[in-house]
Amino acid sequence: MAEDKIVLTGIQPTGSPHIGNYLGALKTLIEMSQNHKTIMFIADLHALNAEKDAKKIKQHTYEIAASMIAMGLNLENTAFFRQSDIDEIYKMSEFLMNVTPKGLMNRAHSYKARVEKNVEAGEDVDAGVNMGLYTYPVLMAADILLYNSDIVPVGKDQKQHVEFARDIAGYFNNTYGNTLKLPEPVISEDSGYVPGLDGRKMSKSYDNTIPLFAPSNELKKRIMRIITDSKTPEEPKNPDESTIFQIYKCFATDAETAALRKQFLDGGMGYGTAKTILFEKIDSVLSEPRAEYERLMANKSEIDAILADGAKKAGFIASKTIAKVKKKMLG
Ligand code: TRP
Repeated sequence: MAEDKIVLTGIQPTGSPHIGNYLGALKTLIEMSQNHKTIMFIADLHALNAEKDAKKIKQHTYEIAASMIAMGLNLENTAFFRQSDIDEIYKMSEFLMNVTPKGLMNRAHSYKARVEKNVEAGEDVDAGVNMGLYTYPVLMAADILLYNSDIVPVGKDQKQHVEFARDIAGYFNNTYGNTLKLPEPVISEDSGYVPGLDGRKMSKSYDNTIPLFAPSNELKKRIMRIITDSKTPEEPKNPDESTIFQIYKCFATDAETAALRKQFLDGGMGYGTAKTILFEKIDSVLSEPRAEYERLMANKSEIDAILADGAKKAGFIASKTIAKVKKKMLG
């Protein structure tokens, strides 16, 4: 990907990430920040349609911010900020509402899924749907179009939202003349699939996660809970069907991965031993970032200062876009 492209992404404040979040998405974003100008924000406004507890949103924002910084986000290249700290985002959403067809929102996957659930349950189609949920894609288009981004790396579940942002930019440009830049979605493939303790995809909703920054003793406890088959230590084992091995290879070097693969295939190693090898690997790779995460969480004013600095950088770009948009729409 060309180095002069501006990468933009938002991360929902869902709290301290687990290993699946990190390997599935956050790691790639951190890597991209090493050689790209990056706009990255914590999408606290997007959390509002479902989360009504301000304290939780605030705490989760700190947790995500500290995690990204601790794992090595390049702050030189990145404007890292809270979505809600940029006043222009509220204006951009309001302006874009007026070029966004209602029918487009009706087609949004997340809204449609909610309606289908309501219908199945025999409820009113729009039960439990607030306008924050219904217009979620407009706010997301505002995020994407406000900062002149070129590339928006997202998981498959967010692809439609980026396409909507392009559609909305198109409606705007058709009506008012060429103003907004159309970004490209970059969809991450399922290569980031990480199994959880029970072998299903690692996910909070399955309660099968390994937290990224758990203290050593908790990390060990979680890893010991990984479900295995009942092969004896002597029997050869299939590494490609083993959750232990699948997670190990995400943290280990190629040589270490090849060595463990051989131990699986040769037999003579019990799952308990394999779990200990996995624990020791993760614990050593994460010990430095974990200390940095804990340090930041104990010094929240340092996180605030980083986010404020990011907001200043982002606000500069946003104010220019809003001035153009306002002029086109209101003269
Ligand atoms: N909706 C995204 C998610 O749930 C988060 C997000 C908000 C986002 N605004 C964005 C992602 C802009 C990319 C670009 O993951």
